[in-house]
Amino acid sequence: MGYDFDQYIERRGTNCLKYDFAVERGLPKDVLPLWVADMDFKSPKCITEALVRAAEHGIFGYSEVKDSYYEALTAWFRKRFDAELQPRSFVKTPGIVFAIAQAIRAFSKEGEGVLINPPVYYPFFEVIRDNHRRIVESPLALKDGHYEIDFEDLERKLAEPDVKIYLLCSPHNPVGRVWTEEELRGIGSLCEKYDVILVSDEIHCDLIRPGYKHTPIIKACPEQTERIIMMTAPSKTFNTPGLQNSNIYIPHRPLRVKFREELNRTGYSQQNLMSLVASEAAYRVGEEWLTECLEYLEHNLSIVRDYLKEHVPGARLIEPEGTYFAWIDFSAYHLSDKDLDHKIIYEAGLWLDGGTVFGEETGSGFQRLVYATPEKILREALERLGKAFEGAEYH
Ligand SMILES: Cc1ncc(COP(=O)(O)O)c(C=O)c1O
Repeated sequence: MGYDFDQYIERRGTNCLKYDFAVERGLPKDVLPLWVADMDFKSPKCITEALVRAAEHGIFGYSEVKDSYYEALTAWFRKRFDAELQPRSFVKTPGIVFAIAQAIRAFSKEGEGVLINPPVYYPFFEVIRDNHRRIVESPLALKDGHYEIDFEDLERKLAEPDVKIYLLCSPHNPVGRVWTEEELRGIGSLCEKYDVILVSDEIHCDLIRPGYKHTPIIKACPEQTERIIMMTAPSKTFNTPGLQNSNIYIPHRPLRVKFREELNRTGYSQQNLMSLVASEAAYRVGEEWLTECLEYLEHNLSIVRDYLKEHVPGARLIEPEGTYFAWIDFSAYHLSDKDLDHKIIYEAGLWLDGGTVFGEETGSGFQRLVYATPEKILREALERLGKAFEGAEYH
């Protein structure tokens, strides 16, 4: 037992989005990247072994999903979330954002509204816009360092007649909220009241901090299964986003048929072989690795918290309940967003995600830092940040 999460693994030169594309994205070559949501840790050994076995077999023909895959997947949900899922209700897609695009096209028409809660994962904006739907924002409310859904505003927006889909982020990227069952039930009943399809993106469902509990939407709102699409994936859990595999759960058959039709229209059918063997292995025997990974993330979060308090006292960490995101409020330094980004990139030499990409107003003054990296890298990043803000006035 015991994966060494302290181990530094060179990712440069591996087509790595996080480390290899700074210049292409207009940034200095040597920025330290803590932006994109993947981890600088090796995936569990069971994944590498499964991939090596498949690679050594040497034939990479068309592949489909066997019962054993669903057995592993449903056992995972049973054990971790006490949720009983039916294999026949899953639809396989390569990615979650891809699946969101299918759902938007399947369940709304051009010009109709899709509701989101900024600050939120920026591809939500893009995928709605790119499909020529209307972005309807119901911003989260920040109260004493804690983000909440503004249910009054949410109801007003859901009541708009052209709003057809509510795209929920659960747990929420970037603010790290793990929605309670009560909150989820409130969302479910509003969607029922206004006849809105509820798409719940639960890609971060396994990255939950001690003391918090993720509830799959399907479990929180059993009466609303006819309008629910629950999107899950092993990619954040086991750090395999490059393998592209998602499990889209649609219990109501007519909805599932419509979603599949949309999938067929895109020309997507068989799954990537490597993603299947890797995911099945992880769902079967990857749990111990995840437990250790979560402990390490907890340790890293305490480093971020302590460092900011001592060395960047004007920065306020929004305490996450899940995910591996530190959503940090720098507004006490009274910098414009442009100046804040500039300071982070050119003075600190860091590549973070500037807050405004998650919502122009709601993200203003914030930066998102991914702390899923070996402690040594994290400390270097924090020291760079500390130096850039040394002596900076705040109030
Ligand atoms: C909330 C959320 N949804 C979806 C994704 C991406 O999923 P995929 O790579 O499967 O499209 C991310 C990645 O950061 C995410 O944070």
